[in-house]
Formats: sequence, C-alpha cells, structure tokens
Amino acid sequence: MFIDTHCHISQEDYDNIDFVIKENIESGIDKIVVSLCSKESIEEGIEFPMKYPMIYLTLGYHPEEVLSINDQDLETLKQLLLSTPHVVGIGEIGLDYHYDKSTREEQILLFKKQLALAEELHLPVVIHSRDATKDTIEILKQFSVRGIIHCFSGSYETAKIYQSMGFYLGIGGVVTFQNSNLVQVIEKIGLDFIVLETDSPYLTPHPFRGKKNSSKYIPVIAEKIAEACNTDLQTVAEITTDNAVKVFDFT
Ligand code: NI
Repeated sequence: MFIDTHCHISQEDYDNIDFVIKENIESGIDKIVVSLCSKESIEEGIEFPMKYPMIYLTLGYHPEEVLSINDQDLETLKQLLLSTPHVVGIGEIGLDYHYDKSTREEQILLFKKQLALAEELHLPVVIHSRDATKDTIEILKQFSVRGIIHCFSGSYETAKIYQSMGFYLGIGGVVTFQNSNLVQVIEKIGLDFIVLETDSPYLTPHPFRGKKNSSKYIPVIAEKIAEACNTDLQTVAEITTDNAVKVFDFT
C-alpha cells in the first residue's frame, strides 16, 4: 500500500474525479493527501473527504496567492483547520522566487504567519520552496515546526540540513527525469526521511510525461527509488508509508 502525500484535485483538471479515485485505489494507493492552497481550491475541495474517505487534506495559502490573502483569510484558515474532518496539516506554504521576486517581503510575512499558526495548532507543514532554499531554512529555524519539504530537488547537503531539522523529503516524478540528480542524492540519504508524492496533475513521471499525472503513478516513482536504494518495491512502500504516518496523524 502506498500513500501519495501531496497532490491537487479539482474539477478543472479532472473531468471525472470518481474515476480517478477508483483508478488510484486499483493501483494500490491507500491514502492521498490533497493540498488545497488557494481560497478557490479550499472552497471546492473542503468536502472531498466526505465523498472519498481515502482523501486527507492540507490547507494553506501558496506563496503565489500572497497578494490576495489578508488577515481575515488567515482567520478563516484557522477555523477551517480546527473544524474540518481529515485535515492533517498546513500546506503547501512557503516561498517561490522563481517567477516573481517582487513579492518576496509579502511572501515571507505570509509564510511566517502560517508557520506561527502551525506552531499554535501543533500541525505539520508542507513546504513549497522554489529558488529560495536559503531563506526557507533560515525562516523554518525560527519556528518549532516539522513536516515535509514538498518536491525536494536539492543537493545532498541541503537534504541533510532538512533532515537534521526533522523534515521529511517529498519525492515525486522528478526522480524519473533523465536530467535529474535526485537519484544520486537518494542513493546517499536512503529511505528513512523520504515520503512519496505526485504533485498531480503536474510533474507526471517518465515514461508517462505528456499524460495527466495522478496518484496511480506513485508505484512508478517508488520503483525508481527502489532502484536507487538497491531494494525492492515492497520495502519502499512499507518505509515511505511508515514515514507518511509519522508526519501526518491520519486517525
Ligand atoms: Ni503542489
């Protein structure tokens, strides 16, 4: 059994969500954690777990949403985190300097406010960090939080820093890309701090690139990790599922 610790589901991306969920279950996926990280996606997805018991949620405001979020929205987030069944964390939150550097200050402020909320509510965080490793590490160190570095693609040294801070690394389709150095990093760090994720509908693993991603491809990612760690698929399934259960309280 596998857990997809990070994906996105919306009607806009999938015409038939019932069918996608059925396919995921048939592929050995036990639980999927859907990241609702904008006001719109939260509104659409907050009731997914009622209909699909395998779905768990993380709620938060993505750095790209920064200009549309005010303090009232943060209060709404807090209330939803406290009252929604199957909520297991805050995310994805963080810093994205890739496209737009002009909102850095605002992003940092929003990130800190959500980390404070995680601290207050004792919830794990799912971190989005793009071209912002240095600031991300510096800010995370100011809070007593734990969780997952989503879509980790950094160096071995960066992996070790996150590991020493109590974070797990979310590994997805990128590990199957030919130009990725992630395999070498995973060879060295092993399975102890790895969780599986698809980030679907984005980042479809090789050889399915071009198709829409879905949690059903988790075994493809796991197979690549098994190769890197010189072990078998079953072991990767067991250890990464254990890791995911340590991060998120699925009860
Ligand atoms: Ni994502």
